[in-house]
Amino acid sequence: MPLPKLLNRPAPTTTQQSPNPVEAATEAGLTVVDWIDERTQISQGLRWMMFRKVPKGINWAYTLGSATMFAFLSQAVTGVFLAMYYRPSVTGGAYESIRNINDNVFLGQFVHGMHKWGASVMIILIFLHMARVFFFGAYKYPRELTWIIGVVLLILTLAMGFTGYLLPFDQRSYWATIVGVNINNTAPFLGPYIGDFLRGGPEFGATTLSRFYAIHMMLIPGLMAALIGFHLYLIMKLGISAPPWLKAHEPEPVIETVEV
Ligand code: HEM
Repeated sequence: MPLPKLLNRPAPTTTQQSPNPVEAATEAGLTVVDWIDERTQISQGLRWMMFRKVPKGINWAYTLGSATMFAFLSQAVTGVFLAMYYRPSVTGGAYESIRNINDNVFLGQFVHGMHKWGASVMIILIFLHMARVFFFGAYKYPRELTWIIGVVLLILTLAMGFTGYLLPFDQRSYWATIVGVNINNTAPFLGPYIGDFLRGGPEFGATTLSRFYAIHMMLIPGLMAALIGFHLYLIMKLGISAPPWLKAHEPEPVIETVEV
């Protein structure tokens, strides 16, 4: 695949003088890019990632995975800003800090609203994406692992919604979380352990809020970022599946394996 024009420039000659500062600055920028690329070979990877063949006949339904990823990134960015003002303390911290974000912080209500509504948007998008993959039969060989990782991503997304719900620490979030943890408690065999883990002990209290905050802020987002990376790697490696109405005429080539 060809490189983009900007990166495909001829090597500069020593006698050539850059006539104006804009060109000189562009040249300097490109020299830095070249310098990094020579040491990391990153352009090869980028070319592999960005210039891929996609099957004929794909449509808007194929953008739902990227839309889910955009929702995840938006949640990450707005979450970082909320974390700058949020205090995960039961005794006069959590509830007040959310009120402060909504009432006093510049654009606080807007960013909080984006995060709150963004959670529902992400859940709707992930289900739509999964439905597209299911109805197009895109989970079949060789994409089973992509599907399995997707299922884990779905569970983690729902867990984000559950752990985030407690954080405003108002009456609704408090009682809804008690109901949610009690439901987890009733799971066969592991239920009581999951309940204890979520509460941070036998009772609801300060540790419960800190625990939910840590899970919501660090544990699940970290896992999700890694799994999305792996999900995308598999999509690039295997290519996007053709729409089912095309597949009916042209079977997909089987991946070649090397005999040992
Ligand atoms: C955070 C959640 C997720 C993100 C960011 C994400 C992202 C993506 C992206 C960008 C694609 C490329 C093509 C497309 O958009 O359709 C894709 C494909 C795929 N996803 Fe997801 N996905 C997520 C969740 C899921 C879930 C919940 C499942 C299923 C349980 C799933 C299964 C798949 C499969 C099998 C493909 C390959 C489709 C094909 O080749 O046509 N993904 N995903």
